[in-house]
Amino acid sequence: MSAVPTIGLRTAGLEVVAGVEKDAEAAALYGEMTGVEAVVADVADLRPGDLPPFEAVWASPPCQPYSGRIRLGSADPRDGIGALLSFVENFHPHILIVEEVPGFRNTCEHGLLLQSLYAWGYTPQERIVYALAFGVPQKRPRLIIVAHRGREWRPFPWPGGITMEIARRWG
Ligand SMILES: C[S@@+](CC[C@H](N)C(=O)[O-])C[C@H]1O[C@@H](n2cnc3c(N)ncnc32)[C@H](O)[C@@H]1O
Repeated sequence: MSAVPTIGLRTAGLEVVAGVEKDAEAAALYGEMTGVEAVVADVADLRPGDLPPFEAVWASPPCQPYSGRIRLGSADPRDGIGALLSFVENFHPHILIVEEVPGFRNTCEHGLLLQSLYAWGYTPQERIVYALAFGVPQKRPRLIIVAHRGREWRPFPWPGGITMEIARRWG
């Protein structure tokens, strides 16, 4: 969890109960900037009881495996999708939000993530969102995946502005 999503989630009226970061320095900075408990751990190693109770998870896995000219995906040691899948399998949060670069779309890892979520009873939706359209000083687009537990189709209330809709109903 980084400070930027935490600010956004709070602005949306949510309480952020903890952040998880495997890099101790980054975790300390996150704690200083937000005042939120920063757990230093690999998300794949956590088990229920290691974190305060929560309903939703925001995940910003490393973008380097899916950015630039050479995209190694899960062959890149920095890739976080496998660890994220372990976390979801262990915790089964009600809601999962994943932020990645648009280059993540249509990769094997993207398919694995969506198929795993569906197999575990989630309904994922996704869109490319341009933060600049919402007053955030960042013009890079981001792929946002929102998945809720349950099979019923509940369209996510995506914000207006410059977005490219790629919402899908999986399955
Ligand atoms: C893309 S950055 C997050 C950036 C953030 N969205 C921001 O706005 O600053 C990804 C972070 O995830 C951390 N990370 C990667 N794999 C992890 C894992 N398995 N467990 C915990 N943290 C991990 C990295 O150390 C890195 O700080």
